[in-house]
Amino acid sequence: MDNRPIGVFDSGLGGLTSVRKLAKLLPGEDILYFGDTARTPYGSRSRDTILRYGMQDIEFLLSKGVKAILCACNTVSATLPASYTNQLPVPFVGVVEAAAAAAARTSANGRIGVIATAATVKSGSYQAAIRPLRPDAQLTIQACPLFVPVIENGYLDRRDPITVLLAREYLAPVRASGVDTLILGCTHYPLIAGTIADEMGPEVTLVDSGAQGALVLRRLLEARDLLCARSKGGNLSFYVSDSGENFAEIGALFLGRDLSGGIHPYTLLE
Ligand code: DGL
Repeated sequence: MDNRPIGVFDSGLGGLTSVRKLAKLLPGEDILYFGDTARTPYGSRSRDTILRYGMQDIEFLLSKGVKAILCACNTVSATLPASYTNQLPVPFVGVVEAAAAAAARTSANGRIGVIATAATVKSGSYQAAIRPLRPDAQLTIQACPLFVPVIENGYLDRRDPITVLLAREYLAPVRASGVDTLILGCTHYPLIAGTIADEMGPEVTLVDSGAQGALVLRRLLEARDLLCARSKGGNLSFYVSDSGENFAEIGALFLGRDLSGGIHPYTLLE
């Protein structure tokens, strides 16, 4: 048993998709979230910069005494090498492996789509994670660089013309490839899952990488006897590296609760 908080981080507010799932699965756990809102997005940056930012995010969570870390950013999860994450002092779960495993289990026809940031696509990490699990898989991978700024700016309505136009443009080749499973390979994308589902059609299963990461983390905490003593009433606290305004507004919409009391802004990283 371990009553320390679980640490979750993302480049911005997308990782709240993991927090939502985690708080539902483990309502007694304290969750400490870090969103690097001052430096988001990561997905258009170089590998070296993403590595540096991701390691700083992890150092920040470790400095807060977390018992485990969920990397709710696909871009960082796709970039950090196992040689680094395996030697961390607490268990670490990355969303890429979690989502890849779920998609490999889910797909009936072996045609799997992945939508993600440019950096995640370039890393080849989804291909590397799916191949050993489903050697027969045919992957269609599409970068969707404009989704993140659209989401961070709150264009979340299912029928918002800007979001629909982008989704149509990005998803047309993925749909044409006949996938039956689509990985939302960026933790921001579940915020526009309705629009994505409308474009892909009802026969395509969407895999939410943030939610899959939360499921894997729960299993890991159970297996290592690291769950806390409480079964409800866990506290959520949010740290952001820039002003928390936008984060509070969209986060409240998404988590269905007022975040303003729990946000600690201006936690600057070196
Ligand atoms: N949350 C990031 C991810 O899951 C996307 C946002 C960004 O580019 O920083 O890849």
